[in-house]
Amino acid sequence: MKTTEIVLPIGNYVVRSFCHEDIDALVRYANNRNVWLNLRDLFPYPYERHHAEAWLRELNQMNPVTAFAIATEEELIGGIGLHPQPDIMRRSVELGYWLAEPYWGKGIATAAVRAMTEWGFSNLPVNRIFAYVFGWNPASARVLEKSGFTLEGRMHQAVFKDGKLTDLLVYGLVKAVGS
Ligand SMILES: CC(C)(COP(=O)(O)OP(=O)(O)OC[C@H]1O[C@@H](n2cnc3c(N)ncnc32)[C@H](O)[C@@H]1OP(=O)(O)O)[C@@H](O)C(=O)NCCC(=O)NCCS
Repeated sequence: MKTTEIVLPIGNYVVRSFCHEDIDALVRYANNRNVWLNLRDLFPYPYERHHAEAWLRELNQMNPVTAFAIATEEELIGGIGLHPQPDIMRRSVELGYWLAEPYWGKGIATAAVRAMTEWGFSNLPVNRIFAYVFGWNPASARVLEKSGFTLEGRMHQAVFKDGKLTDLLVYGLVKAVGS
């Protein structure tokens, strides 16, 4: 991979670079309909071993690498990333994340989002980080609000997922002047 490996401690957990040994845990935890329901269809379900292998290959092509694992000391328990945007949006990155369901409700996503946004503003040439949240996902909206993001807008019925329409909430965080 083309960037320095990262390790950002978040209490008992860590945001760190992916490694080949993550494949088993990635398949175990990503293969969950409740995770898939809140992500783009690009994130597969069922999530099989070949999807995990393809994802790690894709990471090898990324330059810079801006997608990372959320992990315990033993294993991967989720993913988080800052996706570069093209053209006039090139000073923005889209934040995306998911956590293994057994770990929900412990504040881990919030800690990971805070660490990731701080890392992004310090290490990427961007002034804005944004995230899209489906209208039926109040937990994710709360994660962003607790992390300092502002609800900037609601795109009515912009999402068609699992055969249903829902709104798309736009959350944004702008780099503090002087930081
Ligand atoms: C959304 C997700 C990342 C949250 O992870 P998490 O580690 O459980 O989040 P946290 O514990 O840091 O915070 C969750 C907050 O949402 C709140 N919450 C949970 N369910 C809620 C609900 N149904 N309604 C309102 N608030 C809710 C929690 O109470 C908590 O807020 P609090 O600290 O004020 O009590 C996790 O559920 C997940 O991976 N979901 C599937 C994928 C996904 O949604 N990714 C984000 C796409 S934008």
